[in-house]
Amino acid sequence: MKAILHADREWGIGRNNGLMFSIPADMKFFRETTTGNVVVMGSNTLKSFPGGNPLKNRTNIVLYPGGEKRDDCTVVGSLEELFAEIKKYGKDEVYVIGGAMLYRTLLPYCSEVLVTKVDASGGADAYFENLDENPCFSLVYESEPVETNGYKIKFTTYKNNAVKEY
Ligand SMILES: NC(=O)c1ccc[n+]([C@@H]2O[C@H](COP(=O)([O-])OP(=O)(O)OC[C@H]3O[C@@H](n4cnc5c(N)ncnc54)[C@H](OP(=O)(O)O)[C@@H]3O)[C@@H](O)[C@H]2O)c1
Repeated sequence: MKAILHADREWGIGRNNGLMFSIPADMKFFRETTTGNVVVMGSNTLKSFPGGNPLKNRTNIVLYPGGEKRDDCTVVGSLEELFAEIKKYGKDEVYVIGGAMLYRTLLPYCSEVLVTKVDASGGADAYFENLDENPCFSLVYESEPVETNGYKIKFTTYKNNAVKEY
């Protein structure tokens, strides 16, 4: 599986259970990367979407221990159940899309992390681990900076050199 996120200069990823930035070029990259694939999220991330609805044109799996089963996405109650569910799909089809807690839990199992770096400080209250300080991860791709909608962003990929099996 892979993780996908955007982060500010301090690896901040969210504030008040919402995103800090809405940048069309980043949203396009997220949509194009995940469409037709499987997205895995924690319960707060599902609740943060408009109407609390899952994402269209993707298989949505939500780790929601107290949550009820529903028709529009697959709700799992534990990590064991989550792994059993994602084993039904190819490893390259599965994207962890947040939030902070689920990223933290699944990071060791991610072969790659796709980080859109936003050159700004968003006043975050939720963070991703600083991968530049994690010896298991190497930066394998970094785009040229892109100036867009008043932001300077870079698309980056980190590779996990010690991926854990699930
Ligand atoms: N920048 C980005 O790309 C990006 C992407 C996604 C989200 N975010 C941001 O991240 C923030 C939300 O982070 P968060 O940590 O609150 O959200 P989260 O990971 O979506 O949700 C946390 C909840 O999910 C369940 N969960 C997650 N990991 C679990 C585990 N290991 N074991 C059992 N249950 C687990 C629990 O649900 P229960 O409480 O129901 O038991 C937990 O309280 C928001 O600000 C959001 O906007 C940013």
